Order: sequence, then structure tokens, then C-alpha cells
Amino acid sequence: MKIDKAEYQTSLPSVELCPSTDMPEYAFIGRSNVGKSSLINMLTGYSKLAKTSATPGKTMLINYFLINRAWHLVDLPGYGYAKRSKSEHEKLQRMISGYILRRQQMTCLFLLIDVRHEPQRIDLDFIEWLGENGVPFAIVFTKADKQSRARNLASVDRFLKVLSEQWEELPPHFLTSAETREGREELLQYIADINQSLREA
Ligand code: GTP
Ligand code: MG
Repeated sequence: MKIDKAEYQTSLPSVELCPSTDMPEYAFIGRSNVGKSSLINMLTGYSKLAKTSATPGKTMLINYFLINRAWHLVDLPGYGYAKRSKSEHEKLQRMISGYILRRQQMTCLFLLIDVRHEPQRIDLDFIEWLGENGVPFAIVFTKADKQSRARNLASVDRFLKVLSEQWEELPPHFLTSAETREGREELLQYIADINQSLREA
């Protein structure tokens, strides 16, 4: 799929304020600093569309980007950043879970996992919660440029193996790098296919 246009639209603190539209949307979630905002920039080819930062906790609102005037990418705040106050943490939790559980337009949630890390409890719990709530999701492994191909494949296998202890069917998954653009075509094709099936429905 070709990205002809990507526009920042708005940033909101709660799902109730999200735009009323019938366009499909794709949201990005995962631990702070995993590369959600960078992935949005990589996918769109607009390097400064979503704000990124080397310090975790940059994205604090629900951020909307309009793509090809036809669908939305949504950048969510990360979870699991330790250096937040309890009240700030709870506010973000409410924002994230409210969006994920109540946003009808959200056709797929991309859950980002740093490919270098051992499977983390916080991510596995989050996946379990998605399953319990019937949220459609896919897994995107990030930062593939940071280690060798062999290590990446071993990490992905290890993660999927842990998941298969709980899940009969594994979710779709992608290996990506915001640096080398690995995985870009596959992810965009996945989105294009969903958009197409929605148009036909
Ligand atoms: P929060 O908004 O704080 O939750 O973080 P985020 O998940 O949006 O992460 P962000 O995109 O801001 O990236 C965090 C850091 O990781 C930045 O320093 C990025 O440059 C770096 N980064 C993100 N993706 C990649 C990648 O694929 N490869 C490499 N080498 N660095 C990456
Ligand atoms: Mg971010």
C-alpha cells in the first residue's frame, strides 16, 4: 500500500472525546519506549509525524493520524513506565483501557514488543487481558536492527512458544525496525487487507 498522505489530526485524553467517524483505525500499544511512535513514523514515511523520545513516557495522550484521508493510525501512551506517580499511572491506565475496550472503530490493536527482551510478565498479562476481552490484536516485534537475524528469530520463537502455552491459535506477528524499515511492507499490506475486507462487508 502506498501512503500518499499522513496528517496529524488531534490528541485527546479520553475515548469519549475521540472523533466521531466511520473510518477504520489501527492503534499502537506496548511498554514505554518500545517504539510505538517511531513505528508510526516508519510506516507513514513521515519522520516527524509522531513525537518520539529516548526517555520513556513521551506519549501521554491518544494521538490521531489520518492516513490517505481514509483511515486512522492511533498512537497510545505506553504502559509499565515505573517513574510515574500512582495517580498519573491510574489516569493513563484508564485512558488506555477505555480506548481499547470501547472504541468501536478500532479494527486492530498492534501490540509492540522489543524483540531483544525475554518474554515479560507485564506483556503476557496484557495479552491475556486482550484475550479475555476479545480485542483483535497482532504482535509487532520492534528494534530488529539492534541484534542479529538469528537472535531475532530465536527471540520471536521463544515469545510465541510462551504464548502457545495459553493460546490455541497464535496472533499474527511481524518483525520490524524503525531504522531499517524492515517489516514495513508486510504491516501495510496487513492493514490494506483489513481495510479491503471492511469495504466489502
Ligand atoms: P512512549 O511514547 O514513551 O511510550 O515511547 P514509544 O513506544 O512511542 O517509543 P519511541 O518511538 O519514542 O522510541 C523510543 C526510543 O527507541 C527512541 O530513542 C527511538 O529512536 C528508539 N527506537 C524506536 N524504534 C526503534 C528501532 O526500530 N530501532 C532502533 N535502533 N531504535 C528504535
Ligand atoms: Mg510514543
